[in-house]
Amino acid sequence: MKTMLNVALPKGRLGEKVYAMFEKAGYPCPSIKEVNRKLIFENEECGVRYFWVKPSDVAIYVERGAADIGVAGKDILLEYEPDIYELLDMKFGKCRMAVAAKKDFRDDTSRTLRVATKFSNIARQYYLSKGRDIDIIHLNGSIEIAPILGLSDVIVDIVETGTTLKENDLEVFDTIVPISARFIANKSSYKFKSEAIDALVSDLEKLVED
Ligand code: PRP
Repeated sequence: MKTMLNVALPKGRLGEKVYAMFEKAGYPCPSIKEVNRKLIFENEECGVRYFWVKPSDVAIYVERGAADIGVAGKDILLEYEPDIYELLDMKFGKCRMAVAAKKDFRDDTSRTLRVATKFSNIARQYYLSKGRDIDIIHLNGSIEIAPILGLSDVIVDIVETGTTLKENDLEVFDTIVPISARFIANKSSYKFKSEAIDALVSDLEKLVED
């Protein structure tokens, strides 16, 4: 019997791209294209079962083995540090984690810096490496508003095109790390299903574009 791979796909734009790549690599599942609210799709012949999950949850499904493999942004991997294998840089979903602030921002090092972010762990580690005292203000979205309303001095957030910053009169002050989508695997799945996972990785690798 063919090994069945359980794949956590990030719901949304990134996920559509991920699925298209898996399909092209030889792991199609036509039922996934039906317009409905189903979240699990299976193609027994190809040995894949896809689930749509929230992008920030992909790593949890994979870490706990509910999915054997998945595709998650490097931002999520750096933030939550899940105990998984990162097997391939898919080289899409490219953006960067950056520090941004109002154009006239000047860092007053005699004061604690107020940092608004969804990525508290990344922000904490970045400022720790700089020896800068900070106060983290954890938000769940629309981070760009924080400095405008005086809730924070800076933000640590994802910048893709830069449009959100520009339209809110903010500017990048530093780039922390480049981000892209990564293929990840559960550690024990990789032990027991290594042949199937390696075959998939090598099929995907051929489709990765710089
Ligand atoms: C992300 C990120 C920025 C924006 C960057 O937000 O947090 O706000 O995209 O993209 P840009 O540089 O191309 O403008 P998202 O749409 O995920 O919303 P949220 O952070 O407010 O939840």
